[in-house]
Amino acid sequence: MKIFIDSANIDEIKKLEELGVIDGITTNPTLASVTGKNFKELIKEIFETLSSDKIINLEVIATDYDNILIQARALSALDKRVVVKIPCIPEGLKACKVLTAEGIRINITLVFSPLQALLCANAGAFFVSPFVGRLDDISMDGVEVVKEIVEIYKKYNYKTQVLFASVRSVEHIRVAALAGVDVITSPYEFIMDMYKHPLTDKGLEKFLSDWNNAGEEFIV
Ligand code: G3P
Repeated sequence: MKIFIDSANIDEIKKLEELGVIDGITTNPTLASVTGKNFKELIKEIFETLSSDKIINLEVIATDYDNILIQARALSALDKRVVVKIPCIPEGLKACKVLTAEGIRINITLVFSPLQALLCANAGAFFVSPFVGRLDDISMDGVEVVKEIVEIYKKYNYKTQVLFASVRSVEHIRVAALAGVDVITSPYEFIMDMYKHPLTDKGLEKFLSDWNNAGEEFIV
């Protein structure tokens, strides 16, 4: 399962890139705007921060077919790592088909149902992004929606990859992995939570105190 960071914060992206645990990033207009940075400058910094094998999801802001095409082609032309995010609306799926035929990878975003996901796959999307946390927020079962999407894609051998988005906890990441998603995109703090276990801390403390009590010297 690939792990993306859901962030446009350069410090966060840089930290996880240095730890070597991420396969890419996802951004959206909200995440980009909260940085307070000029969008072109922000994108440039993101490109410089991530290595050549990473995937960088950047989103269009147009909602009509012609302008979605223009913006998607422009974002894609910036860098070969770019996957273009397009909202799950009729004009977006129409554009997805055309852009996919041109070799541009598309991530259909703001997906909330298996039926939407079915259309995304038929439109040739590279990623489909069900927003699990936002479904949970309105007392629906976001994980169940993802499980159904994974099952449908498997049944019909769709190539579209399922990207579990809108992560609200580290538990979401465990459940996503068990559900067989291809990718999760998570805020920085939950990826860092994946490292944590009290027995790791306790075990390390004991290893080091035992070593120190023995008064041994290490090899270097
Ligand atoms: O980037 C898309 C998605 O992960 C947004 O999540 O937390 O705004 O619901 P959230």
